[in-house]
Amino acid sequence: MEQSDRIDVRRPNVARMYDCYLGGKDNYAADREAAEKVIAATPQTPAIARANRAFLRRAVRYMAADAGIDQFIDIGCGLPTQGNVHQVAQDVRGDARVAYADNDPVVLAHARALLADDQNSIAVEGDLARPGELLDDPRLRALIDLDRPVGLLLISVAHCISDDAVLADAMAALRAALAPGSHVALSHINLPPSSDKRSVALQGNRVYADMHVNTVMTFRDREQLTGLLDGLDMLEPGLVDLPDWRPELDAPHPAPIPLPGGQDYARGFYLCGVARKGDVR
Ligand SMILES: C[S@@+](CC[C@H](N)C(=O)[O-])C[C@H]1O[C@@H](n2cnc3c(N)ncnc32)[C@H](O)[C@@H]1O
Repeated sequence: MEQSDRIDVRRPNVARMYDCYLGGKDNYAADREAAEKVIAATPQTPAIARANRAFLRRAVRYMAADAGIDQFIDIGCGLPTQGNVHQVAQDVRGDARVAYADNDPVVLAHARALLADDQNSIAVEGDLARPGELLDDPRLRALIDLDRPVGLLLISVAHCISDDAVLADAMAALRAALAPGSHVALSHINLPPSSDKRSVALQGNRVYADMHVNTVMTFRDREQLTGLLDGLDMLEPGLVDLPDWRPELDAPHPAPIPLPGGQDYARGFYLCGVARKGDVR
């Protein structure tokens, strides 16, 4: 199938809606309409998206600077934005290699354009639900040595898989494929404990189904997310709200794009953490 046949600009798309939340320009009218409806129902969304990107940057900085990781796989990488993984990692280690993967052809087209001049970064088509195929991609294998520690980024993507069994199998396969010393960073939507916030979160989430977005989102709780990282050693401070994961690792960043919707971060809507694969396989 030609790539253009698979791009439907009339249907809202989760990657392009996320780009709207971050104040990006790589989106179409259908994406903006759906994103505006989500923001109307859950005004915290843009601030959460920005906090999610900040967690990503801190996790990458930690892995590159403190854990000595020089190769990364970013599954569900999304459209390029400020502070992409290769930029953060190469800021710490100039030789860092990054394989971006996404199942969305629009994302891949943008990522490839961004990476055209970067010898150490690639973008491959891949589905988190089919990790075997993704990890077997010859371009990925030429860049990433799976016999050495990898930084695996699963940032705001696992909730795009609604089938718990499919996700559990995918996570088990990824954990098994990683070399000891590898790290996995995960962020995922969570239903807030307070009933007010819960209903706000559910209303925003309902928009994805009502507007026939290409992907729906599935909430998972702390226990389920802990299960996804089973067999790995969870690093301190564990699974926490986005701004609470090692805030001291924040570095000065390009001037933020003004946010649509609410400006303030609201706790409870997300959980994130980083876990390490121990030395025994
Ligand atoms: C909300 S965006 C997150 C982007 C980025 N990881 C971040 O957190 O800033 C979710 C991304 O995951 C991608 N995605 C959704 N389901 C996927 C799957 N099963 N496999 C790979 N990518 C997926 C979407 O195309 C989109 O680019």
